[in-house]
Amino acid sequence: MNDRQEAGYGGTVKPTRGKVVLASNNAGKLREFAAMLAAAGIELIAQGTLNVPEAEEPHQTFVENALAKARHAARLTGLPALADDSGLCVRALHGAPGVYSARYAQLAGGEKSDAANNARLVAQLADVADRRAYYFCVLVLVRAADDPEPLIAEGRWQGEIVDAPRGAHGFGYDPHFYVPALNATAAELEPSVKNRTSHRAIALRQLLARLEEDA
Ligand code: IMP
Repeated sequence: MNDRQEAGYGGTVKPTRGKVVLASNNAGKLREFAAMLAAAGIELIAQGTLNVPEAEEPHQTFVENALAKARHAARLTGLPALADDSGLCVRALHGAPGVYSARYAQLAGGEKSDAANNARLVAQLADVADRRAYYFCVLVLVRAADDPEPLIAEGRWQGEIVDAPRGAHGFGYDPHFYVPALNATAAELEPSVKNRTSHRAIALRQLLARLEEDA
């Protein structure tokens, strides 16, 4: 499989805008971005390798958190920065865990882990018939910490929550996120399929198109 197939997004973006720091330490996101951006010729540097600590995520909206993370990484590195703020929004839970997806179990006194988050999700949906949910992703790219025109893109991926986990790929809530259109959970999808279908893929296509316009 070549870079473009692995990337999944199938874009026609001209290579290279040089180095971009990815404002995340989430290993799952890093893996997906590395695959999706390889074909665009963007040299993505994880903020952890530049000793950038995690930014605070104090806000109630994805876009504010993403902007805060991107600015933080750009300020500390002097490089353009890309941030992703994303989460799972469950209709019967009025959009929860939403912006708190990474800390869903922790906020209820549990540990900060995918396993604990998934256990809480399944428990919250016990006896709930409406399983509709979507993943949401906001991407923000700033050329500098004080960039007055951050590039902002978003994506949504519709699915349903299943009690029994299935699949070994992906991360986070993926084993419980069933995509009817593909008859598989996100964790059962090959990475290349998730990387052209997901909320993150949709947002990234939009962002790359915007970059292309600005080129
Ligand atoms: P953030 O780092 O604050 O944006 O938190 C994102 C959280 O949302 C992750 O820790 C996961 O719990 C969840 N999430 C976002 N995107 C995905 C995905 O593609 N698969 C599974 N979980 C996801």
